[in-house]
Amino acid sequence: MAVKFDAPTLIATKRDGHRLADDAIDWLIEAYTAAEIAEEQMAALLMAIFLRGMDAAETARWTAAMIASGERMDWRDLGRPTVDKHSTGGVGDKITLPLVAVVAACGAAVPQASGRGLGHTGGTLDKLESIAGFDPVLPTARLREQLATVGAAIFAAGALAPADAKLYALRDITATVESLPLIASSVMSKKLAEGAGALVLDVKVGSGAFMKSAAQARQLADMMVELGAAHEVPTRALLTDMNTPLGATAGNALEVAEALEVLAGGGPDDVVALTVALAAEMLALAGIGDRDPAATLADGTAMDAFVAMVAAQGGDLSVPLPVAACSETVTAARDGTMGEIDAMAVGMAAWRLGAGRSRPGERVQAGAGVRIHRRPNEPVRAGETLFTLYTDTPERFGPARDELDGGWRICDTPAAPRPLIIGATP
Ligand code: URA
Repeated sequence: MAVKFDAPTLIATKRDGHRLADDAIDWLIEAYTAAEIAEEQMAALLMAIFLRGMDAAETARWTAAMIASGERMDWRDLGRPTVDKHSTGGVGDKITLPLVAVVAACGAAVPQASGRGLGHTGGTLDKLESIAGFDPVLPTARLREQLATVGAAIFAAGALAPADAKLYALRDITATVESLPLIASSVMSKKLAEGAGALVLDVKVGSGAFMKSAAQARQLADMMVELGAAHEVPTRALLTDMNTPLGATAGNALEVAEALEVLAGGGPDDVVALTVALAAEMLALAGIGDRDPAATLADGTAMDAFVAMVAAQGGDLSVPLPVAACSETVTAARDGTMGEIDAMAVGMAAWRLGAGRSRPGERVQAGAGVRIHRRPNEPVRAGETLFTLYTDTPERFGPARDELDGGWRICDTPAAPRPLIIGATP
C-alpha cells in the first residue's frame, strides 16, 4: 500500500474530534498489525477514540479492517449448523463451558474462538488451561474434524483477527477497554472471522461489567447486532445482570469445577438458567429451536460432549484440578441475610489473588480466586464462613481483602431479587 498516511496526523485527527476516513482506518490496522506503528502511537490513538468515539461507519470499517488482518473461516460444508455466543465479560462468567457442550449435544456445532482475561474479568482460555493437558491451539484441519465429530471446540483466536489480539492486549494496560466502538469491533471482528453461521451475544450490565448502565449496554448490543447483519450473520443479544457475580466462584480452576457441577445436572441456579437461556437462543438461530437444552444437562449428554471436547484438545479431566497452596476465610460477624455482593469487588479480589494479569503475558494462578459460600438473600449465622480466598502467594491476601471489604454486607431482611435477564434485542 502506498503510504499516504502517518500516525501522528491521524492521532491528532481523532484527538480533535474528527472522523477517520475509510482508507486511513485500513492503513492504521494494517500498519499496526505489521508492527509499523509504534505501541505508544496506537495507545495514544486508542485513548483519543476512547474520549472522542467513532461513528457507526467508522466502527464498521474498523471491524472490517480487523477481520481482514487475518483469515476468515467458513463452516458451510460442515454438515451441522454452526452458531456461537460471546460474552462482553463478567465476574464468575463460566457459562461458555457448559453452554458449548449443551449446544453440541443438541446437534449444532460451536466454533468458539476465545480470549484470555481482560482487566478484572476472567478469560475462558485461562479457565480451560487449568485442566491438565488442555491445548487451546488448534490447527484448522483438526478444528474442522473436532467440530464435525464432537460439535464443540474452544480455541485461541490465533490467526483470526490478529489486529484485535494486539489491540486487546494494549487496551488492557492503557485503560481504554470501556469504549463502545472498541468493544463492539473487538468482539465482532473475532466472531465474524470465526465463521459461525449465527451469533448470540451476552451483553453484561452492572458493576462488574464494562457497561455499567442498561442504556449503554443496549447501545453496545445494537451496535454489535448491526455489525452482524452487515456481514449477513444473524445476531441477537441478551442483556444480563452483572451486578453480582455469576454462580459461587470467581477464578480459573474454581470456575471449571463449578461448570462441571452444572454439566452433572447440579450447580448454582443462575449459571444453569443463563446457560439454558443462551442455548435456547443459539438453537433457535441455528434452526433447531425444537431441541431442549435443559434435557442435555439432566441426561448427561452435555457432560459427554464436554468430556469429548476436552479430550480432543489433549485435556485430562481425571487429573484433579489445581488447588491453591493457601486459603483464608471471611466470616460473618452477626446473624442476618446476605445482601448484594458487588461483582467488581469480587472480580478485583480474584485478580489480586492471582487469577488475572497485571502485565501482558504474565502467568495466572490456576487455583487462585474467591468462593462465595452465602449468596445474596441467603440466611447467615454469626461465625459462619461467607467467602474463602485462595492463592499460592499469601502476600496477596491483604490487597484482596481490601478489594472485597465494602463489596458485601449482612442485612436484616432479604431484598427483592434482581432479574438475571434484563432485555434482548429484537
Ligand atoms: N470482549 C472482547 O472480545 N473484547 C472486548 O473489548 C471486551 C470484551
